Amino acid sequence: MLLTGCTSTEEPSSRRPSSTPPTTTSSRAPDPVALPKGAPQLTDVIPAPVRVQRAPEENFPIDSATAIVPAKSPDAEHAADLLRDTLRRSTGFELPATDRGQVIELRVDDELPAQGYRLEVTRTRITLSGADRAGLLNGVQTLLQLLPPEVVAGKRPQGELVVAGGTITDHPRYAYRGTMLDVARHFFDADTVKRHIDRIARYKINYLHLHLADDQGWRIAIRKWPKLTTVGGRTQVDGGKGGWFSRREYSSIVRYAQRRGVTIVPEIDMPGHTQAALAAYPQLSCDGRPRRPYTGTQVGFSTLCVTKQETYRFVQDVISELAELTPGPYLHIGGDEAQSTKPAEYRTFMRKVLPMVLRAGKKPVGWHEYAQVDLPKEAVVQYWRIERADDATAAAARAGNKVLMSPADKSYIDMKYFESDSRGNKWAGPVSVQTAYDWDPAGYLKGVDDSAVLGVEAPLWTELVETEEDIERQAFPRIAAVAEVGWTPQSRRDWNDFRQRLAQHGPRLKAQGVAFHPSPDVPW
Ligand code: ACM
Repeated sequence: MLLTGCTSTEEPSSRRPSSTPPTTTSSRAPDPVALPKGAPQLTDVIPAPVRVQRAPEENFPIDSATAIVPAKSPDAEHAADLLRDTLRRSTGFELPATDRGQVIELRVDDELPAQGYRLEVTRTRITLSGADRAGLLNGVQTLLQLLPPEVVAGKRPQGELVVAGGTITDHPRYAYRGTMLDVARHFFDADTVKRHIDRIARYKINYLHLHLADDQGWRIAIRKWPKLTTVGGRTQVDGGKGGWFSRREYSSIVRYAQRRGVTIVPEIDMPGHTQAALAAYPQLSCDGRPRRPYTGTQVGFSTLCVTKQETYRFVQDVISELAELTPGPYLHIGGDEAQSTKPAEYRTFMRKVLPMVLRAGKKPVGWHEYAQVDLPKEAVVQYWRIERADDATAAAARAGNKVLMSPADKSYIDMKYFESDSRGNKWAGPVSVQTAYDWDPAGYLKGVDDSAVLGVEAPLWTELVETEEDIERQAFPRIAAVAEVGWTPQSRRDWNDFRQRLAQHGPRLKAQGVAFHPSPDVPW
């Protein structure tokens, strides 16, 4: 880990412009405050920032006189509200927006790189500058990591609240740092998804891909095709009652995520993985036979009938309604493991469906099998296999399409952590914390270099995941590893350094009640 050590005498000149007159006794900064024992250091942050300059003389105490003051900008006000809500819940301090005394200031600085921020901590003032709303929210998450673990958990911290002095200057390596939750194999309700959003946002994960339809269940209400949910949503793997999101519930997830800087990417997997849709509307299959929603875990046996007009009317309605509910830029159309669709028919299907997504105002995302067709330039290819070469994905990258990296042997967090792990899938695993950390998205796939990579995503398939605790156990701490893969420059990443920092986050995860897996490769 390359960290720039810096004493308070080497502060950036911008903090104290040369035109400032010499300080007089009456306006002198307060005496330095010591950092309480065990308090977070600037170097503990995950994902590791681009640049950290420590200034131990400049620690900033937060108390009942502290103010949170956003500049006049909706983005600064939004980020300030989020910070104030969190701090107020935990400390009970009022944290008014009056600019006097000890101040935490938030402002936009559009010279910073996209999603980037600068956090300057001095004895009297914390200045958080963000390039944009995302940058400010990323800075808020960093600041929260510099406070005791109880704060984000909404509990009263023990002892003094002191933020370590210095400056963090930071921006992400990749624009897209995501995770996927499969709500089709097992259904998880809106409140569970929202709690998951809170947890992933702490590590600056900015996309949550929801796998909304598969053989085992259809999880989003579509007005024109009501039986998708009333018939197709009523079960899940191994039986159970399943469930689905109403339009209102889905929108509430979208808004909740948006407020925290997380964009929802909805996926309807097509033309395979569609048994639940076919059970609801048998006319969407070629033989029209009645079917039951599936409760097993095999794949590759279902397909929409690619030669029927009705199929495209259906797909158009689904895409239109989903796009209408989704403010984010992406709409995922699946396309994986379509073993029951003839290759020529698969290509016909994708050629018809891709323009529907574009006409709905969205950029298509698909699992990398869909790169077999000539993709529109906006289409994103999500690579999910473990082979280090895929001609179609490499050709798409050459043609200018972006690739989202989710190689299963590195980023599938449904995999077991280790060989004898009692939980998790195993076809691509095990995926230890080190395995999830120790790889470079730019060097993984032949012909797909850094400039073609949009980012990384850690999918959580839920064939074996039944409860919220199971989600937490599979996702944490590996999400923290994936977040750093996607955020931190490769040259600044080091497994040994990461595992030490991750260990510092154990009490933080514990305080929030996250049922993380205490992986033996981390010195908790
Ligand atoms: C996949 O794991 N079938 C995308």
